[in-house]
Amino acid sequence: MRQQYNFSFEVYDSLNDLPMADQELVQQARQVTANAYAPYSHFNVGAVAKLANGQIVTGTNQENAAYPVGICAERVLLSAAATLFPNIAINTLAISYDNKNGKSNHPVSPCGICRQTLLEYEERVKQPIRLILSGLEGKIFVISKASQLLPLSFRGEDLQG
Ligand code: THU
Repeated sequence: MRQQYNFSFEVYDSLNDLPMADQELVQQARQVTANAYAPYSHFNVGAVAKLANGQIVTGTNQENAAYPVGICAERVLLSAAATLFPNIAINTLAISYDNKNGKSNHPVSPCGICRQTLLEYEERVKQPIRLILSGLEGKIFVISKASQLLPLSFRGEDLQG
């Protein structure tokens, strides 16, 4: 027997091709990269979420001289959202970056730890998170469920006896 995992996502050449609400979210994600604290990697990441209640929550990566202490923009955002607006779903999460060492002209996707965190957020509020990934310019990816980025994932139910 063989099982297969497939998922498709949208690719846009220009921000103007997205609905206006998404364009605004991407612009905010790009702007908020300025709030990152990334003196070691010089890779500023910005994330902006639109919640089901209409509220906007942002996050940026926050590094530390003890490198592993640093935290990604996505997890800063998820921790803030869960604290400020407990049990409220995230409809859309836009992520952008400003690579001070080079170009910021293609989408980057969340790291493995953030994928695991996004997945559990979806589970706990019982709603998928739509992701919009982009640099400061270039193509834009739209992924309908963050959990699609983590097939065969480890879940809370696996801890049950
Ligand atoms: N980073 C994020 O904030 N989000 C990602 O999706 C990828 C990486 C941060 C972590 C670190 O501060 C810097 O980018 C370089 O890895």
